[in-house]
Amino acid sequence: MYKGLIDRYRKFLPVADDAEIITLNEGNTPLIPVPELAKAAGIDAKIYVKYEGLNPTGSFKDRGMTMAVTKAKEEGMKVVMCASTGNTSASAAAYAARAGMKSVVLIPDGNIALGKLAQSMIYGAKVVAVDGNFDDCLKYVRDLCQRHPIALVNSINPYRLEGQKTAAFEIVDDLEDAPDYLIIPVGNAGNISAYFMGFAQYFEAGISTKIPKLWGMQAAGAAPIVENRVFEKPETVATAIRIGNPASWEKAVAARDKSNGRIEKVTDQEILEAYKLIARTAGVFCEPASAATVAGLIKYGRDIEPGSTVVLVLTGNGLKDPDNAIKSAPEIFHVKNDIRAIEEVVL
Ligand code: F0G
Repeated sequence: MYKGLIDRYRKFLPVADDAEIITLNEGNTPLIPVPELAKAAGIDAKIYVKYEGLNPTGSFKDRGMTMAVTKAKEEGMKVVMCASTGNTSASAAAYAARAGMKSVVLIPDGNIALGKLAQSMIYGAKVVAVDGNFDDCLKYVRDLCQRHPIALVNSINPYRLEGQKTAAFEIVDDLEDAPDYLIIPVGNAGNISAYFMGFAQYFEAGISTKIPKLWGMQAAGAAPIVENRVFEKPETVATAIRIGNPASWEKAVAARDKSNGRIEKVTDQEILEAYKLIARTAGVFCEPASAATVAGLIKYGRDIEPGSTVVLVLTGNGLKDPDNAIKSAPEIFHVKNDIRAIEEVVL
């Protein structure tokens, strides 16, 4: 039976032999071929999506959280805390519940998707909605965790990246080598850094023959790395990556440069078009931040060498953000309780 990513990749992870593993059997997510996207982008490439929305709380954050909470528990902590645009908080709340610990989450008031808020609440987190943005929340969390015995579980916690790097392992295990390109959304910039670690480790261990070019995608209204400046007021429909001063900025730049990759921006309009495109052509529902990768493929795909293998990381499940889904596809037919009325709209 599959027992989660710590069990599967233990020899690559800093976990003590006798540690109590806090897991929800995360990881092992599908790599789905999407030839429809090659067609839409007009390129000759084998394209796959790594559908991280199928993790237990619906995002890739669970990979990092199984590690971070396992470690926090081992260290005897009773409370975990994070700042979040929604997914980290949902995951932290779930794993804390699993571990019998408390969780406190700081979120930007009014700027997280509805499903994510619902998750944090039902898992029992103390939800603190701050009249500020993610970057403000992270500042407060760093301060509080320094002054109190609370485990910080944002991705500045190194165990988070250790867990998240296993997605790169899974991709190589599935493809039997690394892809040529990996396209990934960038917010606080932890995940692109984690993927680089994972691909580099497998390459050094001789399991893969190359490290993919990492292409990070930021939203145009929250593109600090692309423009090399802090965004004081980040703004984007992709609230998951509405971040103006990413904590892992330098690591992401190193991942970009060492992989011969790039970090680019896509507009909200491009994100929303891509969000609909992948749902309607491939049957895959992801959240807007994840669709930034699809938008990046459409926008920059002409630079992909013909015959390449490309993986897009779809970081979060579309169900997290029902409001944007409904706004993006507004047509719905309201009819009388009557066969004729129904027949009229059906045909
Ligand atoms: N995609 C989704 C769905 C996310 O939730 C995030 C980050 C990212 C991409 C970007 O990943 O931060 O490692 O560069 N969400 C964080 C959160 C910030 O609080 O849930 P990153």
